Amino acid sequence: MTKPGLAALLFPRTVAELAESYRRDEPMVVHGQRESLAALRTLPLVESLDALLRTWPEMVQAHLPDVADESHAVSVSPQDARKLFGNGMGLLFDDVHRYAPELNQWLEAIRTDVGLSALTLQRCLIYATPADKGTAWHFDQNVNFVLQVHGTKTWWLAPNEHVARPMTRHTIGQRVDSELQSYAKDPMLAEPPTNQREIVLSPGSLLFVPRGVWHATRASTDALSLNFTFSAPTWIDLFTAALRGKLALSRAWRETAAPTSTEAFDVLLRELAAEAPQWNAADILAVTDG
Ligand SMILES: [Fe+2]
Repeated sequence: MTKPGLAALLFPRTVAELAESYRRDEPMVVHGQRESLAALRTLPLVESLDALLRTWPEMVQAHLPDVADESHAVSVSPQDARKLFGNGMGLLFDDVHRYAPELNQWLEAIRTDVGLSALTLQRCLIYATPADKGTAWHFDQNVNFVLQVHGTKTWWLAPNEHVARPMTRHTIGQRVDSELQSYAKDPMLAEPPTNQREIVLSPGSLLFVPRGVWHATRASTDALSLNFTFSAPTWIDLFTAALRGKLALSRAWRETAAPTSTEAFDVLLRELAAEAPQWNAADILAVTDG
């Protein structure tokens, strides 16, 4: 049996090639029905949309047609989801690894192969997209591996020249998150980017979508894809998590903040600054990733 992980996902391309694409924030694609992915293709969850809807025990997210984006979605029963799909609405099944334990092994193996933190939020999603529908131009803050299981879907991708390493997703034409805007080019891109790369996914294709890359999609037939999605912490997240854990041990730092009197806060900041030269990455990572 194939060992779950990046090598199986990418075969016959290599983990080293993925590492280079990852470093450059460039998409990477592998095409064809590959034996290394037989275990994923034959999961009952992805046999067909009808089979999935028959067994899915929860609500389904249906994407409203106005923006064709997951930020505009309603939660519906599987029965209603079938009708909405027939009316041209895309469906999202969240956290599907809870119902297919073997997917947890894949998530864990891919995360460690990519070299992401143990604090990464990892999940599998299934997207069902009706023919002629897709998603509007957007970027995500997470790293994605998309396995096309049924149907054909075109992806357009473009480098993000407006913001590097975004920590929030954004869809063209939607309100820009205020923190995102604080470190993004102003104004944010308002029209589809010009330097697009087109990639057509057919059953068996595997697409690596780097964090922050602009993308839009359109299915040419009814389509179903299985996504491995990794929301990995930044250095900011690891450092602030570790710092909070440390400061929580201090009675003085736990004092209710009184912004009108700054004396005590200044003392705490000076003490912390005096300690800072001794901090090192290994000690912090032993706490967050140990
Ligand atoms: Fe996306």
